[in-house]
Amino acid sequence: MAEVERDLATGVQTTGHEWDGIKELNNPLPRWWLLVLYACIVYGLGYTIFYPAWPSLTNYTKGILGYNSHADYYTDAADAADAKKQFTDRIAAMSVAEIAGDPQLLEFSLAGGKAVFNENCAQCHGVGGQGQKGYPVLADDNWLWGGQLADIEQTVRHGIRSEDPDARQSQMPRFGADGIIDAAAIGDVADYVVSLSGGEVDAAAKERGATVFAEQCVACHGENAAGNKDLGAPSLTNNIWQFTGDRTAFVAQITSPKHGVMPAWQGRLSDDLVKMVTVYVHSLGGGQ
Ligand code: HEC
Ligand code: HEC
Repeated sequence: MAEVERDLATGVQTTGHEWDGIKELNNPLPRWWLLVLYACIVYGLGYTIFYPAWPSLTNYTKGILGYNSHADYYTDAADAADAKKQFTDRIAAMSVAEIAGDPQLLEFSLAGGKAVFNENCAQCHGVGGQGQKGYPVLADDNWLWGGQLADIEQTVRHGIRSEDPDARQSQMPRFGADGIIDAAAIGDVADYVVSLSGGEVDAAAKERGATVFAEQCVACHGENAAGNKDLGAPSLTNNIWQFTGDRTAFVAQITSPKHGVMPAWQGRLSDDLVKMVTVYVHSLGGGQ
């Protein structure tokens, strides 16, 4: 080995590297720096002993503390479920009116009810309950069967013309198909219905139609055609139509009526979810 060269001014060994007469000295690393480096190595080794660290082909070293981030996640998730259960237990024990009167439960129910609605109801009633042809708007104040909390709950639990024995039931007669009134009378009463929401019709036809209406239709649609919520018979005066709002559609409805069918949700949704979606629908803007 060649003899070590020392720097004349400081007496420190050189590394033997030289650039244009400037030589690199071989000073030792500062002590503090070395201590930090050793501390890091000790910490790093210690970590791999205590915590999961080294991969093998099929598994990994588990570490002697038995720490597991999945287990952590499951404990957190269980805590969250516990917190949620405190709400759902109270909801299950309360009436919809009580739930709506409790600000905390109301907030929880509106959020949960919205999720239930989007998943189960929106395909028919539209997102936010805006409705579509054949499926009523739930976000207005026009109700077929009633917009009080209890009405909505009844509708949601048992459905409308569904298989449920407590379903809401009613049937508009097939005036034309069953020969209850003739085609002329159907045309006249259709004209009368058009006139109820401000449409222009022949005055004589309207007159005759009013008579047919009084004889055949008021029993369900009401004296002033304002509707009857016990029968789900809609108002015919507000120009809101579940089906189509023109004369041809009225003639078709009077001849051989269409009826909306809404499934029952009791049994399909748990009791707390039924109540939550009821409170949500009630809040959509039309709740009475
Ligand atoms: C398969 C389609 C369908 C689904 C899904 C559905 N509905 Fe309905 N719903 C209807 C129809 C059709 C009517 C109107 C029935 C009638 O003509 O009387 C209705 C009526 C209603 C009414 C009564 C409206 C009124 O004016 O009185 C409420 C409240 C209601 N639905 C809520 C819900 C909720 C909440 C859900 C989800 C849990 C839901 N619906 C899911 C078809 C559906
Ligand atoms: C036994 C009760 C009953 C009688 C009587 C009855 N209706 Fe109806 N009518 C209903 C019901 C219930 C509906 C709603 C059907 C549905 O939404 O599923 C309805 C719906 C309608 C609609 C459709 C409304 C819409 O929003 O699209 C028209 C129009 C109508 N009826 C006109 C008449 C006329 C005209 C008569 C008399 C000739 C009459 N109805 C007699 C029960 C009745």
